[in-house]
Amino acid sequence: MSKVIILDYGSQVTQLIARRVREDGVYSEIHPCGISAQKIAAMKPDAVILSGGPASVGEKDSPGLDMGILAIGVPVLGICYGMQLLAHALGGELAQSQTREYGPADLEKTADCALWEGIADLENGGRSRVWMSHGDKVRTPPPGFTVTGRTATLDIAAMCDAGRRIYALQFHPEVHHSECGGQILRNFLFGVAGIKPDWSMGSFIERVVSKVRERVGQSHVICALSGGVDSTVVAVLLNKAIGKRLHCIFVDNGLLRQKEGEEDIGFLKTHFDLNLKHVQASEEFLRLLAGVDDPERKRKLIGRTFIDIFEREASAIKDAGHDVKYLAQGTLYPDIIESVSARGPSAVIKSHHNVGGLPEKMNMQLIEPLRELFKDEVRTAGAALGIPESILWRHPFPGPGLAIRIIGEVTKKRLEILRCADAIVQEELRTAGWYRKVWQGFAILLPLKTVGVMGDGRTYEHVIALRIVESVDAMTADWTRMPAEILARISGRIINEVKGVNRVVYDISSKPPSTIEWE
Ligand code: XMP
Repeated sequence: MSKVIILDYGSQVTQLIARRVREDGVYSEIHPCGISAQKIAAMKPDAVILSGGPASVGEKDSPGLDMGILAIGVPVLGICYGMQLLAHALGGELAQSQTREYGPADLEKTADCALWEGIADLENGGRSRVWMSHGDKVRTPPPGFTVTGRTATLDIAAMCDAGRRIYALQFHPEVHHSECGGQILRNFLFGVAGIKPDWSMGSFIERVVSKVRERVGQSHVICALSGGVDSTVVAVLLNKAIGKRLHCIFVDNGLLRQKEGEEDIGFLKTHFDLNLKHVQASEEFLRLLAGVDDPERKRKLIGRTFIDIFEREASAIKDAGHDVKYLAQGTLYPDIIESVSARGPSAVIKSHHNVGGLPEKMNMQLIEPLRELFKDEVRTAGAALGIPESILWRHPFPGPGLAIRIIGEVTKKRLEILRCADAIVQEELRTAGWYRKVWQGFAILLPLKTVGVMGDGRTYEHVIALRIVESVDAMTADWTRMPAEILARISGRIINEVKGVNRVVYDISSKPPSTIEWE
């Protein structure tokens, strides 16, 4: 399989490079910029891309370039900081700058270049809109390099040494605002590097299936199925690879949304003929949660109870004589990706908070079949495996479930109220065509009571808060400016249809300083 290695110098958009390359049908991997040329060569890449980054070349502690990379014999593309690194390393001259140029610029071709092939806007003195984000710039290109593009403010916006197949761009072709960016990357991959696109979801699935079969042999694997996108795709993928030797455990904690436990999990079990144990533990969770109103205590209790139950069930599978050696988990690429900061590499590794500590405790080896994929690729894989859209496009749902959307104590009655209100929110977002436009939309039950009037009578009932947010990664989020008529429909239906609620409010806080969930 063809492969492109991307060296991460810390740009915010490094992951975008990897995605664009994969969208073009070429497998790509991001590695920290400190990795040696020897290691890169051992991965047998077809091309190397140096990302942008916030540092200044030559500054103390700024990440450098292992010159061995240029000796591997594959084409190299430097983007932004990557361009400056190449210029500096190969004998060019840089100009430091205290100010950053950030935003759109119009690229103009100054010489023919393989990267400009097929870009009509650059022909005959034309211009193409690109996206800049840089401080320093190249003042003199290294010997052997031709300046291939400029903008109104930048004499050297692009350069190359076609003979050595080294290309450099000051702008970011990976961001959508660079109109010709996609074509430039394709020209680099298919024209300069001569790569044949051979990465597709079908080939990915085949590869994972055969790798898992080989690794697992005749052993057994267990998997915690939550009904969310990632664990569902993991389960269906492994089921394809090893069939009944995969044991899925679904722990129903009674804190799920309407229909989620019975209907969706039941569907997955029968449709894919999953070897699935549905553990009904609602009563156990509710009993433990009685009288608990502190959010952290709720979270810890739920997490611990989940692990206890899961371990119990896993032991039962082992006791039944199965040789269980592996635990499957839905870790994704962004969870494991190593990133770098301006002051050198630092590992940013997010742990899976729902099953934290599980693998170590259970003394099992991990199988993470999705660790090469981005979230949208997981959905594509899921679709290729026949998983329905209603599951693949489901909004994120926290492990502790509705318990952290009921402020204060969790009781059966409160769960019932919240579940009904939440079902209306989900239904109305879907009907209005907004479900896939927003990151998350849900209801929160506030245990305080307020006065209302219904018919001729006074009411004194609960408040439901609506939280509908936009986000790309849940690290930051903003409240969605929903059309008033949709909010009105949701509010009207909740107050009329959900017994025990007489008021609905809309949460207009962004993250930070608020969080998406209320607890
Ligand atoms: P916050 O509330 O921290 O949430 O802004 C960020 C995102 O994470 C989800 N979330 C969780 N997901 N287990 C999960 O799997 C959890 O314990 C958990 N807590 C929050 C939340 O829904 C949002 O998408």
